[in-house]
Amino acid sequence: MSPANSIRMEKLCYTIGGRKILGNFDFSLERGVNRTILGVSGSGKTTILKLLLGLLQPTSGKVFIADQCITGLPESAYMELRKCIAIVFQGGALFDSMTVGENVGYRLFEEGRLSTAEIERIVVEKLGFVGVEQALNLYPAELSGGMKKRVAIARALAADPEYIFFDEPTTGLDPIGVYNICNLIQRLQAEGKTTLMVTHDLETAFATSDRFTFLHQANMLFEGTEAEMRASAIPEVREFLAPTDQSLFV
Ligand SMILES: Nc1ncnc2c1ncn2[C@@H]1O[C@H](COP(=O)(O)OP(=O)(O)O)[C@@H](O)[C@H]1O
Ligand SMILES: [Mg+2]
Repeated sequence: MSPANSIRMEKLCYTIGGRKILGNFDFSLERGVNRTILGVSGSGKTTILKLLLGLLQPTSGKVFIADQCITGLPESAYMELRKCIAIVFQGGALFDSMTVGENVGYRLFEEGRLSTAEIERIVVEKLGFVGVEQALNLYPAELSGGMKKRVAIARALAADPEYIFFDEPTTGLDPIGVYNICNLIQRLQAEGKTTLMVTHDLETAFATSDRFTFLHQANMLFEGTEAEMRASAIPEVREFLAPTDQSLFV
């Protein structure tokens, strides 16, 4: 399989129960350009990640991975294409009945391509990368919030993806936890991974991304750099950067 040079959404709409969650959304993620999609809670950020992965089917519009349209295909047809992408879900989504090591190696064990010894080596390496190798034999319930996030990142890294999606990776963490996760994301980028994050946290976004997309009530209102965003005259963007009493978001 040739490497995926981009992941794209074309005129994507997503409606559920008569409610528009996403309207006419155009978006692309090129290799090497780290992006963040910003928006308040409920603006449709997680939905975008699910649509990009094919976990949800759009009402209209198309999703492309490596220039191949995956929209409307059965999952088995784009499983191979999707292997270039890993996602770190908001809650970490670790399996509670498995140890940390089993969680991280899960996908590799399922694939059945590598030997147990090789998988164990990868698991230890990825846990080392995120700095929680001591948690190998613990269960998720025994971990702090920050450790869970790191284990979830290690699990995403196990299959060596080109693209890593992060859903609110720092939400709920203390300042040290936020710093550590941002640092980890920067190290991944330095290793050549391309990241896409969705978050409402500006500090995390600006620390880890080159370009920003701002989503408001199902619509993309802004796309550009941090400097362009800070200079934007769009009222909703200004409000998001510096909320006031007269909030546009209520
Ligand atoms: N399965 C669903 N059924 C109905 N509404 C949904 C469903 N999933 C998401 N929504 C609604 O879609 C909107 C966007 O959700 P989401 O993508 O999770 O937003 P965000 O991640 O930005 O907080 C929210 O208003 C949410 O209530
Ligand atoms: Mg969300």
